[in-house]
Amino acid sequence: MRDLKGLILSGGKGTRLRPITHTSAKQLVPVANKPVLFYGIEAMAESGIAEIGIIVAPETGNEIREAVGDGARFGVSITYIDQAEPLGLAHAVLTAEPFLGDSPFVMYLGDNLLQGGISDLVEAFRTSSPDALILLTPVPDPQNYGVAELRDGAVQRLVEKPAKPATDLALVGVYMFTPPIHAATRAIKPSERGELEITDAIQYLVDQGKRVEPHIVRGWWKDTGRLDDMLEANRLVLDTITERIEGELIDSHTEGRVVIEAGARLERSTVRGPAIIGAGADLVDCYIGPYSAVGDRCRIQNAEIENSILLADSSVVGLERRMQGSLLGKNVMIGRDDGQPRAYRFMIGDNSEVWIP
Ligand code: G1P
Repeated sequence: MRDLKGLILSGGKGTRLRPITHTSAKQLVPVANKPVLFYGIEAMAESGIAEIGIIVAPETGNEIREAVGDGARFGVSITYIDQAEPLGLAHAVLTAEPFLGDSPFVMYLGDNLLQGGISDLVEAFRTSSPDALILLTPVPDPQNYGVAELRDGAVQRLVEKPAKPATDLALVGVYMFTPPIHAATRAIKPSERGELEITDAIQYLVDQGKRVEPHIVRGWWKDTGRLDDMLEANRLVLDTITERIEGELIDSHTEGRVVIEAGARLERSTVRGPAIIGAGADLVDCYIGPYSAVGDRCRIQNAEIENSILLADSSVVGLERRMQGSLLGKNVMIGRDDGQPRAYRFMIGDNSEVWIP
């Protein structure tokens, strides 16, 4: 098989992660302090892919270009491909055709996370050389995904977000294709949501008698489109970290697997892992509990935080109760005002959520 190329889809509006995605790409929201997108790029690099195309949208393209660069730091070469409108995953493949040429390729949805990377799967693709290889995993809510029906281990039918799913086998957002996919993306019509669905393009391959090989994913897989998924992905990745303390601890201590980046400073604080504290963070009189990822330069004082993601430069000061299950964007301020009247005071962007006990 010719050298595989990589195609990462990093467009989309991220509506289910608003308000974070009003100002930032969903693929750049960090999981254990690293943008989701970087996990996909690293997985591709690890599997031996050297040339990656990243599909970007007009709204967030520049931010993604800036964060990822030319790929040198990942040991790959990256080409950016503009998709003017979000017309679907198969439309993204159409848009990338000049980049892909007649190479086989791995397509990876930029907000997906797959435990253990893709090296084994790429190896299976290279060895058995099917026309396409898809990944499937059982999920409790198949109606939210592309759903597969198999017969005798072969793909029979694929339906995008069926109201009445025939199985619980969801299409994972990592696909491997060969050139026949291009004829398929040209042949299909837009779905009810007005998109060219990759699910329909793969069904077209099946209908044409092409060999579409299904693989069941054994490790965990997360599509990080929603807050709860984001928090779960953060927990899953934090569960794999190894302890590393490079910051400064003053009358403070850590328990379990904790990463404290260089330049972080803790005073009279406790961090119970798994948790990660970013570079330059400043923590005073606080408790950071399991499954927290505190971004670079965050300032936390007199507060308890657990199972939460804080993006860079946010502050949390003087909370009476523990904060949990939260996602704070960049440069957010949550503080205490001891003046009169004792009232809540908010300045919150569109689509924000605030919950008070
Ligand atoms: C897309 C695909 C769907 C697949 C899912 C995986 O859904 O259309 O078939 O199961 O990714 O993350 P979307 O994220 O566009 O809703």
